[in-house]
Amino acid sequence: MFVTFEGCEGVGKSTQVKMLRDYLDRTGQPAVYVREPGSTHISEQIRNIIANPENTEMTDITEAMLFAASRAQLVREVIRPALERGELVICDRYVDSSVAYQGYARGMGVERIKQINAPAIDGLLPDVTIFLDLRPSESWRTFKNTDRLEQESADFHDKVYDGYIAEIKGSNGRIIPVKPDFDKKVTAERILEVLREKGAIK
Ligand code: TMP
Repeated sequence: MFVTFEGCEGVGKSTQVKMLRDYLDRTGQPAVYVREPGSTHISEQIRNIIANPENTEMTDITEAMLFAASRAQLVREVIRPALERGELVICDRYVDSSVAYQGYARGMGVERIKQINAPAIDGLLPDVTIFLDLRPSESWRTFKNTDRLEQESADFHDKVYDGYIAEIKGSNGRIIPVKPDFDKKVTAERILEVLREKGAIK
């Protein structure tokens, strides 16, 4: 099964992926863990270009295509082969991030972003997507503000959130919103419940 995590900056997504991994390790359930953009030699190099705050001249279309290129490599080099071997794959961000960040927040258009990503994902959508449902302006957490996208305005990050909410509706139940609790262990339990219900984990 292919499980992805989505959400805005500073909602504790990476912490939750780590807590899920700890749980699966503890209970003897193997999985392949990847993050986007990154997780292959080529995709990590692309990540550095995207995140570099010196790259102020990067155009929207360049950014969208770099995310798609990183994804194309990851799907072919890691995700699809693992799924074909029958393994569980857990990915921190996937194409829904491009739809929310580039499609909605950058205003490039959802259909355009889906078109750019079609050859990258080659028909591969997640079985389950956990969306950590917290509007950035209402988040009690702060984020690092070091990379190019994190430095975008609060308004941009709220638009990302609105984009995710719009996507949930059209996802036929694939994207499942999970409200983060102040207590990260409570959030982790909520995520385990959803993934058990979907048959992704035991
Ligand atoms: P991260 O902070 O979860 O590692 O994600 C990296 C940044 O890239 C984050 O600001 C979200 C952004 N992003 C996009 O804008 N589009 C994408 O397709 C992906 C995967 C990430």
